Amino acid sequence: MDEATSESIAPGRAAATILAVDDDPVNLGVLNAVLRPHFRVRVARSGAAALRAVDSEPRPDLILLDVMMPEMDGYAVLARLRESPASRDIPVIFVTAMDSSEDEKRGLELGAVDYLTKPITPAIVLARVRTHLEARQARDMLKRFNAQLVHQVDQGTHALEQAQLQLMQSEKMASIGQLAAGVAHEINNPIGFVGSNLGTLTGYLQDIFSIIAAYERAEALAGNDAAFEEARSLRQKLDYDYLKEDIAGLLGESKDGLARVRKIVQDLKGFSHVSDTVWEWADIHQGLDSTLNMVWNELKYHCTVSKNYGPLPKIRCLPSQLNQVFMNLLVNAGQAIADKGEITITTECVGDAAVRVSIGDTGAGIAPEALARVFDPFFTTKPVGKGTGLGLSLAWGIVERHGGKIEVASEVGKGTTFAVTLPVEPREAVAPAAAPSP
Ligand SMILES: Nc1ncnc2c1ncn2[C@@H]1O[C@H](COP(=O)(O)OP(=O)(O)OP(=O)(O)O)[C@@H](O)[C@H]1O
Ligand SMILES: [Mg+2]
Repeated sequence: MDEATSESIAPGRAAATILAVDDDPVNLGVLNAVLRPHFRVRVARSGAAALRAVDSEPRPDLILLDVMMPEMDGYAVLARLRESPASRDIPVIFVTAMDSSEDEKRGLELGAVDYLTKPITPAIVLARVRTHLEARQARDMLKRFNAQLVHQVDQGTHALEQAQLQLMQSEKMASIGQLAAGVAHEINNPIGFVGSNLGTLTGYLQDIFSIIAAYERAEALAGNDAAFEEARSLRQKLDYDYLKEDIAGLLGESKDGLARVRKIVQDLKGFSHVSDTVWEWADIHQGLDSTLNMVWNELKYHCTVSKNYGPLPKIRCLPSQLNQVFMNLLVNAGQAIADKGEITITTECVGDAAVRVSIGDTGAGIAPEALARVFDPFFTTKPVGKGTGLGLSLAWGIVERHGGKIEVASEVGKGTTFAVTLPVEPREAVAPAAAPSP
């Protein structure tokens, strides 16, 4: 046996394991006797045996290594130990009869932490071993702290990046909101008079048509009077019957178009916090359910909706505006599902002071380059007439007004989840926004 472990250590001692390596059994015996009362001792009688011992349990915390050994000397063993990540950090103390400073230099250059010369003095061996064990413990602790710090810094950086992103988006929204409010205000006026003019025009046209009808009746009574010849040919040339019909169609379309513009302006106003509503303590689940009822027609043929409601407190909010958020998210989810798919609504508490509503779908997902733009007003991938691209920016504005945040995670081909986190009692609701109520 060229390798053995002595387990007899003094009770109560931290069981550091020391590997003693020497080809001379007498030297090994001496080392063992010195160390055994204090440490768990393993011994090896050759370089090869030492390397094997390092690879097996209990792994040594420190190695006392003889330099002069046949086949593989201490320098070679040390070089091999330093090659492997598992043994690189184990402190090695050379124990040798040689005491030339050249030898010491070579050993220390190779990475030995210390040098002991034979014949050994027990007190010195113990003192050096303890010193280097403590140094190693301190190094290990520092490494752990360091790793922890790096981890914390990483986490902090990530949180900071997220906050920065949210802030950038908020700032962008705020400036767009101002612009939108201005534009909405400017557009509102012309919409008003164009709408009213269209109404008046419809009335006038009806009057004109009834006058023409009266003329037509008069013409019928006059028979084939040449005086009406010009009117007759004009009527044919200009296809009066078609014109009459088409005017009604055109007016109808114009009114529809105007209604659409009015809706966009309304959305823009909502987005820019112009519209007024009352802050209330409301049940989110009730809001979700009633919103779901409203959009059910759009979803029922191609989506299954599963609800994953957790227990939630009532929150102070503008309920109708939050419903608008849920509606936009649900409609988007439904529109993202082309064939058949599932929408999942999950609610949960986030700590004591916030709740989260997540709306997930198994739809088309959002391409990474579009992901950063989905909250931008007028960003849409839907065909003209189908989407105005205001749904999410509106939602963003409302959630922000509640002091909450809205986040999106998406994978193309798999689906998308929008998570809305809302404080139970937003500061805005307590302070100025609550002012209108007496
Ligand atoms: N659940 C979703 N899955 C996939 N893409 C989505 C989803 N929600 C939003 N999007 C993408 O974000 C874009 C913007 O959404 P947003 O709701 O703001 O506008 P829109 O749905 O296009 O139009 P609008 O809501 O005004 O009718 C959509 O056109 C779509 O490309
Ligand atoms: Mg939408």
